[in-house]
Amino acid sequence: MAPSDGERLVKSKQRVAEHGEVFTPSWMVEDMLNLVREESERIDSRFLEPACGSGNFLIPVLTRKLQTVMAKHGKSEFEKRHYALFALMCVYGIEILPDNAQECRDNLASLFSAFLGVDSADKWARAAQTVLSANIVQGDALTMKTPNDDPITFAEWAYLGKGSYQRRDFRYDELTQRSHWEAEGTLFSDMGADLFTPETTYPTMTVNDLAAQADHA
Ligand SMILES: C[S@@+](CC[C@H](N)C(=O)[O-])C[C@H]1O[C@@H](n2cnc3c(N)ncnc32)[C@H](O)[C@@H]1O
Repeated sequence: MAPSDGERLVKSKQRVAEHGEVFTPSWMVEDMLNLVREESERIDSRFLEPACGSGNFLIPVLTRKLQTVMAKHGKSEFEKRHYALFALMCVYGIEILPDNAQECRDNLASLFSAFLGVDSADKWARAAQTVLSANIVQGDALTMKTPNDDPITFAEWAYLGKGSYQRRDFRYDELTQRSHWEAEGTLFSDMGADLFTPETTYPTMTVNDLAAQADHA
């Protein structure tokens, strides 16, 4: 099937040659996500796209999660907003090119804000900005390093209920080891969560705290 009208799958021949930058058409993304439909719709399933481009996979993943938020929590504005932010917290990307990484953050931010009906100055949009700057990392997924040669870290977010979130940061290279062990079913497989210690554990936060972090970034 040909890409739908207006869907640009290549930005330039040079970018294709240098970075393998060819975007996946939306029909193919939907077909692939349908293979893991339940996971793609679950609010708290964590998705990492290690070559995320401008978000052709992550945008429909967030769309599906937000549909679940509406179905499960749409009746309470408080729960809807908090679970929508939590859905965003469960979407992760790595992208080597800074313009793509920023486009990906912007696309996810627009989707989130449109869902809540807020503008970019609203505290929910600013909280989303904090989450996206942690979750969509500009870096090399192969070396697992940032452009400054620091190890890539990811925030593990949890929603504790009653408007409170927890953040713990883990090194990406250690997380990949953990999933390797779990997949292997080794003696230590069920200890994975205890064997890897966070780089940083933050105090619990509210949406106001997250919005304030965006203001100070
Ligand atoms: C084939 S495109 C796919 C983009 C997106 N996943 C999609 O399906 O539309 C590959 C993307 O990976 C990025 N990329 C290439 N090498 C990378 C690396 N080592 N680490 C992270 N991203 C990389 C490219 O810049 C490009 O945006």
